[in-house]
Amino acid sequence: MLKNKLVVGNWKVHFTVPESTVAIEKLKKSLGTVKKVEIVICPGFLDIYPASAELIDTNLVLGAQNVFQKEEGAYTGEVSVVALAHFVKYVLVGHSERRLLFSESDRVIAQKAAVVVAHGLTPIICVGETLHEKEDGLSKIVVVNQVEAALSHLTALEIENIVIAYEPVWAIGSGQLCQVSDAEKMAQDLRNVIKALYGEKAAKGVRILYGGSVDQKNAKSFAQSKTLDGVLVGGASLDHKAFVEIVKEFESKKK
Ligand code: PGA
Repeated sequence: MLKNKLVVGNWKVHFTVPESTVAIEKLKKSLGTVKKVEIVICPGFLDIYPASAELIDTNLVLGAQNVFQKEEGAYTGEVSVVALAHFVKYVLVGHSERRLLFSESDRVIAQKAAVVVAHGLTPIICVGETLHEKEDGLSKIVVVNQVEAALSHLTALEIENIVIAYEPVWAIGSGQLCQVSDAEKMAQDLRNVIKALYGEKAAKGVRILYGGSVDQKNAKSFAQSKTLDGVLVGGASLDHKAFVEIVKEFESKKK
């Protein structure tokens, strides 16, 4: 199965609704002819509804940056998957900022991944080690544990269609890029674990992205990787020109 590469822009907590409308409009114009790359924009919750109207019948799709693990109820301030399902195709789950700043546990992340899949959306499950863990030689064990926990409520068939983003915490927003070869090694290790636990089809089907300080200058080396299925872009996705260049690196890459 030939899978299209995935380029995901995570806008985090930037842009007002009018600003995001302008940004979406510009992306639509610049990227309208892209065919080989699946482009996903993850704006803030308030921007999702207007952006979804802008993106009808285009090649850009929307993702949410987070979701609540329960479908509905008395959970003041949360956003449910039921509400999101009308407007987005993807949901980021367990981003390191959620894990570190909002104390999201592996247990909650597994529940979120499950609720997202149950509603027909695709989770992009984010995993990655901290600098401390890397320095202690724990990268692989930490990331494998995060993945095993996050997938624990899913079936092999469901895992075949999800996305995992390997995002070393020390590389996020730091300008410190992970070597492509190291990201590829981690992706391969994760596929091996998934194969052992859920079988070959799940291991082959799951898409594995790299994220952390990807920009227009280094995107090419990730676009050329045969092991990685795309990138998750934070800071550079806020810069229209930079994001368009990143997508074009993936579009122009030879299969
Ligand atoms: P960055 O963020 O590209 O700014 O490093 C990536 C992310 O947080 O997903």
